[in-house]
Amino acid sequence: MEEPPRYRYMPEELWSTPDLKGVDPRKVVDYLLAALSDELLAYHQYVLTAFALKGPNSMEISEEFKKIAEDELNDHFMKLAERLQDYNVDIPDFRDFWKLSRCKQPALPSDPYDIDAWLKAAIEAEECAIRFYREIYDYVRDKDVRTEELIEHILSDEIEHYTLFKNLLSRAKS
Ligand SMILES: [Fe+2]
Ligand SMILES: [Fe+2]
Repeated sequence: MEEPPRYRYMPEELWSTPDLKGVDPRKVVDYLLAALSDELLAYHQYVLTAFALKGPNSMEISEEFKKIAEDELNDHFMKLAERLQDYNVDIPDFRDFWKLSRCKQPALPSDPYDIDAWLKAAIEAEECAIRFYREIYDYVRDKDVRTEELIEHILSDEIEHYTLFKNLLSRAKS
């Protein structure tokens, strides 16, 4: 089957709001699109992990992965998509997500019983997310208040995820 043409999610002209002060809207949109893509890839990684894990501790840990996957999609992804709407930007064509993503996905383990290895991949993903949101925060701070507040909220969640995965790691070891 022939591939359908790409969906045009970028408008001819970006919208702006009067509150923006000293930001390049194009740069904010690029950041938001990269973050949106990272969130979809994180959702995919965690849901894949939840179904892949095997072994005695796997049920409980899979449930944690599913819960965090929900945060990435239903909270972070959705809120970033809403902010993009203020700039008149839609959801990208599915084929563009990997290219747009900043953090991509870490290499996933091949052994479904090695729960530690899957947790380490999740910790790696969260570390990248935290670094990236910190970079966006520094750019928009005091210049694009609505994006700043959103990034602050997401950054705080990612730190929580990071800690939770770390805690599970020590439990998986015992
Ligand atoms: Fe997230
Ligand atoms: Fe996260």
